[in-house]
Amino acid sequence: MIVTNEKVRFAVVGAGHIGKRHAEMISRDPEAELVAMVDVRSAEECGVTTEIPFFNTVEELLNSKLEFDVVNVCTPNGLHATQSIQALEAKKHVVCEKPMGLSKEECEKVIFKSLQMSRNVFCVMQNRYSPPSEWIKKVVQEKILGDIFMVQLNCYWNRDARYYKKGGWKGTQELDGGTLFTQFSHFIDIMYWLFGDIDNIKGNFADFTHQETTDFEDSGFVSFDFLNGGMGSINYSTAVTDKNLESSMTIIGSKGSVKIGGQYMNEVEVCNIPGYEMPILAESSPANDYGPYKGSAANHHFLISNVVQTLKGKATATTNALEGLKVVEIIERIYNVRNEQLNVSKVN
Ligand SMILES: NC(=O)c1ccc[n+]([C@@H]2O[C@H](COP(=O)([O-])OP(=O)(O)OC[C@H]3O[C@@H](n4cnc5c(N)ncnc54)[C@H](O)[C@@H]3O)[C@@H](O)[C@H]2O)c1
Repeated sequence: MIVTNEKVRFAVVGAGHIGKRHAEMISRDPEAELVAMVDVRSAEECGVTTEIPFFNTVEELLNSKLEFDVVNVCTPNGLHATQSIQALEAKKHVVCEKPMGLSKEECEKVIFKSLQMSRNVFCVMQNRYSPPSEWIKKVVQEKILGDIFMVQLNCYWNRDARYYKKGGWKGTQELDGGTLFTQFSHFIDIMYWLFGDIDNIKGNFADFTHQETTDFEDSGFVSFDFLNGGMGSINYSTAVTDKNLESSMTIIGSKGSVKIGGQYMNEVEVCNIPGYEMPILAESSPANDYGPYKGSAANHHFLISNVVQTLKGKATATTNALEGLKVVEIIERIYNVRNEQLNVSKVN
């Protein structure tokens, strides 16, 4: 469903860290317009100073006489699917922050509604826009690395009591859902985008430092096979002291090997492919900076521009709803392995 007005009009739901970033990037895009914001807290509490209409619930927004095309869902994870469906039912397109939902079943309901209402759902996976990600996508797609033998994803971050505040949604099973959903879904997305689906999942999980602050594990070693061939692992932790250590992906192929590292996979550290000349890549955007802790790439301007251009019929969505669902489904299957282990240890 193409948007024909000169500017694509957005309403942002959730005026926290990332919602305000969406709002700012919309305001900076010459073909986009921010028409409203929604948060259960007051505009003042959220630190929102713009003059645009501010509502306290999605219902109030949708029942208002305001005209707009897109709802950006930037609330806690456990609300994403319900609020996306509300927006779709009101015939709005949706931009949904990661993760798209906390179960495959929830995401299927969103996709069903988007097909029924003929509206788009864009998922936010902005690390795909980082120059190393765009480069490695091309390298894998063009088989420059040959057959893929092994992929190792290492995600070692710091998330401590400065991040998990008492009474907040972060760390709760219901609204956060788990470390893989909130901290590391970007990296699982990149892995799925590059190498496809996985099977034969095995894992070891532990909670080293978060018994008091979260409902779930903080660390895991997970291994699996790729349906397209080769094997992989995700090694992750939020128990790293003081600051993020690394987010890296090591790829061993039949024609060479690559390691992409840095704090959020923003630097190509090794490219050893005999006969292939590594191009010079553009600078990566810095990480989102939340004061004491840092997140993934600050690439939301690319996202808003992609949404605008796709809705005007001039581009295709960088991350569509099916891809958003696949990431959720992969995480859900990893957590099923964790839950089976927890059940076995309870019985024993
Ligand atoms: N793409 C990225 O790199 C990235 C980075 C950070 C967060 N996120 C995602 O963005 C979402 C928000 O994260 P955050 O860090 O901004 O959290 P936050 O706590 O700073 O903001 C969430 C906001 O939602 C509001 N809220 C809660 N319930 C609501 C409701 N029912 N209706 C309207 N507003 C409601 C809260 O009051 C709060 O202002 C999460 O899903 C998170 O995973 C993505």
